[in-house]
Amino acid sequence: MSDVILRVEHLGIRFGALAAVKDVSFEALRGRITSVIGPNGAGKSTLFNLISGAIRPSSGKIFFKGKDVTGSRPDQMVHAGLARSFQITNLFFELSVIENLRLASQFLEGGHGLFRPVSASHKATRRVEQLLDQFALGARANELAGYLSHGEQRRLEIATTLASCPRMLLLDEPTQGMSHADTQETEALILSLASESLSILLVEHDVDLVMNISDHVVVMHQGQKLAEGNPLDVRANPAVQAAYFGEVREGAHA
Ligand SMILES: Nc1ncnc2c1ncn2[C@@H]1O[C@H](COP(=O)(O)OP(=O)(O)OP(=O)(O)O)[C@@H](O)[C@H]1O
Ligand SMILES: [Mg+2]
Repeated sequence: MSDVILRVEHLGIRFGALAAVKDVSFEALRGRITSVIGPNGAGKSTLFNLISGAIRPSSGKIFFKGKDVTGSRPDQMVHAGLARSFQITNLFFELSVIENLRLASQFLEGGHGLFRPVSASHKATRRVEQLLDQFALGARANELAGYLSHGEQRRLEIATTLASCPRMLLLDEPTQGMSHADTQETEALILSLASESLSILLVEHDVDLVMNISDHVVVMHQGQKLAEGNPLDVRANPAVQAAYFGEVREGAHA
């Protein structure tokens, strides 16, 4: 099965005179890895902000699982099954690994405080244990997140985004600032996460990683969609070469 899980239609947002995202349309298929690439300032993170509900589009529509979710708040998007990670690490450094995961999974508990159903709380506890295991963070469970290595922090961040059992995960530059070894590990991790029940939308500057694991690539440039297609076609596209890969070769993204 490979139907559409996310569709954006003519999406746009202006910040004053700047059209940060302009008339962007694309589809992401269920169970697949869709990547968004483009030079710095192309509008990739803004696109994620629009899709996750952090900011409202000034034009266009967003459909998630066939439903029009345009203008939904971030918490409504999480409830709908869409979770995101941030370009800047977004953990509570003064809390432990397990506390970070616990907080992220509160969503599964339903209700509030004393009125929280015990069964729901068990569900959250099981989810935390499962994530500690899946992300090889069990030995670090009681360590403060601030004391983890950079690679472990980014891994924990992906784990926290999965705490709500989403159907789609938006990852904004998960390998930013990572060593080569950590990047390779993250590549394998993202590949292993994609399944019929979890689709992935990825923003990433590491071109090799994008080419290795993506089913579909959307290229953005100056707020607009420049091209889209399978990794090989996108890489061979002369307009993409000029706008993006040319810059990468010259080290503009180092
Ligand atoms: N809240 C905002 N207010 C005003 N301008 C903004 C805002 N958010 C983003 N921008 C501008 O919109 C443009 C796109 O920014 P965005 O962060 O989406 O780019 P990006 O593709 O994610 O870049 P990078 O690869 O550096 O992360 C930039 O010119 C940025 O300065
Ligand atoms: Mg960005």
